[in-house]
Amino acid sequence: MRQEKIFKGKTVAILSGGGDTPAINSSIENIRNRALILGFKVYGIRQGWKGLLGEGDIVDLTNQPYNGLYGGTALCSSRTNPFPSEKNPEDRVPQIIANLKKYKVDVLITIGGDDTNGAAKRLYEREGIPVIGFPKTIDNDLRTKTIHTYNGKDIEAVLCPGFPTAALNVSNMTRHLRSTNESHQRVMVVEVMGRDAGWLTGSAIFGGAELALVPEYEMTAERKERFFETVKQRYQEKKNLIIAVSEGVRWWNEETQKLSMVYASSETDEYGHPRFGGVSGVIASEISTRLGIQARSQISGYYPRSGMCGEYDRQLTSSLADKVLDLLIREDYGKMPVMSKIVPTEQLEEYNTDTIDMGSIGNRPLQNDYYDSDSFTFTDAYVDFLTHILGKPYTSSFGYTFAKVNPNLL
Ligand code: F6P
Repeated sequence: MRQEKIFKGKTVAILSGGGDTPAINSSIENIRNRALILGFKVYGIRQGWKGLLGEGDIVDLTNQPYNGLYGGTALCSSRTNPFPSEKNPEDRVPQIIANLKKYKVDVLITIGGDDTNGAAKRLYEREGIPVIGFPKTIDNDLRTKTIHTYNGKDIEAVLCPGFPTAALNVSNMTRHLRSTNESHQRVMVVEVMGRDAGWLTGSAIFGGAELALVPEYEMTAERKERFFETVKQRYQEKKNLIIAVSEGVRWWNEETQKLSMVYASSETDEYGHPRFGGVSGVIASEISTRLGIQARSQISGYYPRSGMCGEYDRQLTSSLADKVLDLLIREDYGKMPVMSKIVPTEQLEEYNTDTIDMGSIGNRPLQNDYYDSDSFTFTDAYVDFLTHILGKPYTSSFGYTFAKVNPNLL
């Protein structure tokens, strides 16, 4: 018996906005496949909100092959803000609404972080556009209300597609840097993306970083003193040290006597965000000068968010897409699928998913449970959180202590 697809004649359109991640194509493919099951026609909007301006830049994904394993986003991305901003005072919402009508889009699915989904939320609340949000950010700071149970305590954690693969990349990169750092007995300061949150920086400890600085805890003059003391001590213990640093760390500047951030450019995007880069160099140079220890900086830059989609992300995007299918069937809009708890890969299944109202979308920085600001380290709870995602931390080193030859005994 032939069954009619219930949403035949209806159209879903997907867009991705903001910084890319290795899991966006996987999200698009998984959402597209679920929507096809229901009979939707599926469009892709190119370059985020930008693809809904002017004439519109929209492609048909319905019957196209789609490689979800390839990182980044085949729909391309932008940081276009539909709402008036300092950089662009024009309200572009009317253009967006007109294009959604012109292309006969019935449901809009927005893959993004706080900016893209924040704009989608406003479109849903203000204009009644049927929107479903989908999380994405390597920074992992978009609130997903995912519970991590550690030693009997429930901690509100975050789990956004893109973070697992980026965390694996940061961990691997740090692990590789160990051998060169050990060989030269240096301090290596590894800089990791993360404007407002240190979730990704924490993954460097899985590759052997001993200390970490994150944006959530300002490095005031007093904390800086303590930090240098800690670096000196930890370096003495093994004569090499890796310190992971978030790009957005606020660092006390001796000259200006102010907390400052290090920018790669003076430009801001349409959401008002500056582009960071270089704080690791400042910190390494101060370590060399103040402690007389050779220090080097290494900016991980775009490497963590590049390359193929990892296994955890693949399964995560599949489970969250199952939840999208559910929302589509129920015509339940203004929601975003999330994992309800932190689980290992094999438990990334729909029964562990939930939805949150787009109204409660926002930033979720690291909490005290995960970072110990006195010792500049991530806690055991964080290690447990990340172990669910990456498996065991990798902390191998050359490992031999050779006996010194005494020429007098020869
Ligand atoms: O999307 C967030 C992010 O990964 C931040 O950590 C970083 O500051 C930003 O992207 C940089 O992205 P781009 O240089 O592509 O604008």
